Amino acid sequence: MRWGGGGPRSGALPQLTRRDALLAAGALPFSCLAQPPTSTTTLQQLARRSGRFFGAAVQPEQLARDPAFRAAVAAHCGVITPELALKWGAVQPTPRRLAFDAADSLAHFGRRRFLKMHGHTLLWHRSVPDWARSAIHEPNGWEVVRRWFEIAIPRFKGTTIWWDVVNEPIEPQDHAQGLRRTPFLQAFGADYIRRALESARALGGDGAKLLINEYGLEYPDAEDEARRRQLLHLVDALKRAGAPLDGIGLQAHLRLSRGNIDQEVLAAFLRELASRDLAIVITELDVREADYGLPVAQRDARVGDAVRQLLQPVLDEPAVRGVITWGLSDRYSWMNHEGESGFGVRGGNRGLPLDAQLAPKPFFDALAETLRYARPAVAA
Ligand code: XIL
Repeated sequence: MRWGGGGPRSGALPQLTRRDALLAAGALPFSCLAQPPTSTTTLQQLARRSGRFFGAAVQPEQLARDPAFRAAVAAHCGVITPELALKWGAVQPTPRRLAFDAADSLAHFGRRRFLKMHGHTLLWHRSVPDWARSAIHEPNGWEVVRRWFEIAIPRFKGTTIWWDVVNEPIEPQDHAQGLRRTPFLQAFGADYIRRALESARALGGDGAKLLINEYGLEYPDAEDEARRRQLLHLVDALKRAGAPLDGIGLQAHLRLSRGNIDQEVLAAFLRELASRDLAIVITELDVREADYGLPVAQRDARVGDAVRQLLQPVLDEPAVRGVITWGLSDRYSWMNHEGESGFGVRGGNRGLPLDAQLAPKPFFDALAETLRYARPAVAA
């Protein structure tokens, strides 16, 4: 096994002490800050060593109301993703009413701290405003899409380094080309993805890199294999058509119930993407637990192992440019919201780097360790 056993054990990180991590996470009292964290303590600093970034999805209210969490985000992140604030349904609830307060406040937070933004997301079938669902079927329907891009993209120019132009376009069962039957597919046909990339590029100048972001690409089973194959077909078709696609986002919402990641299979897929001259970003990493009845230390160890299984091959691939987790602390994980599987479990799902008290756990250690030993990324 190429990635087995070489690195340090979890919890025994050279130079990165538990105290450093706690300090960086804002989890120790202020008096402990007399001695600042060393220059190698934060996840962003570790990521930068191999030419990458680390980031997390956040919501502006979390940053505004929770100083300790805000400090942890500022310490660890080089990039922030708006978890909700830049989705079409959130920003343009009616054709004329624009709700940019949340996204603007994140951009402001980022600019003050030299953080970049990951623009999430321009087209997602789960966040299309009601009015747009019908308007895109009118004869001038593409103009509705283009206008939305024109509202969103230039506003965050310079701050946003990546845009998820199309989110979750693959569904192998839906369509001959493996595309999801979204309102966009129904209104514009399979060419909507190329058109979206062209429209985004025309508005974004050379600044932001354009991604397709997709889930269900990480596990070795037939379901994910079909999704990987269809995504590669889509990429090839887009490249043939000359579409300005810069990269692929792998969401990486891991689930312990799905068993192990096959690192060779994942590495081969990443090489396939890289050989097509694409950047790769891990965009939404988190772990859904399976057995909530185990002692917490065991639960956390399992989560950490899953993260290591994913990140060893990922950070061995030079085309991978960064890792973003879907939240930084269990305090705010979407999996602990109503309707999600961690909800109602005592203490909630523990699938993010910091626990609900903002203390680092094995997920954090796995990130720090794999970032520290990452193979250098290709230059931007
Ligand atoms: C999720 C948010 O985290 C939730 O709060 C919201 O209710 C639904 O959307 N894939 C994506 C993200 O691309 O936008 C989703 O975010 C999680 C799955």
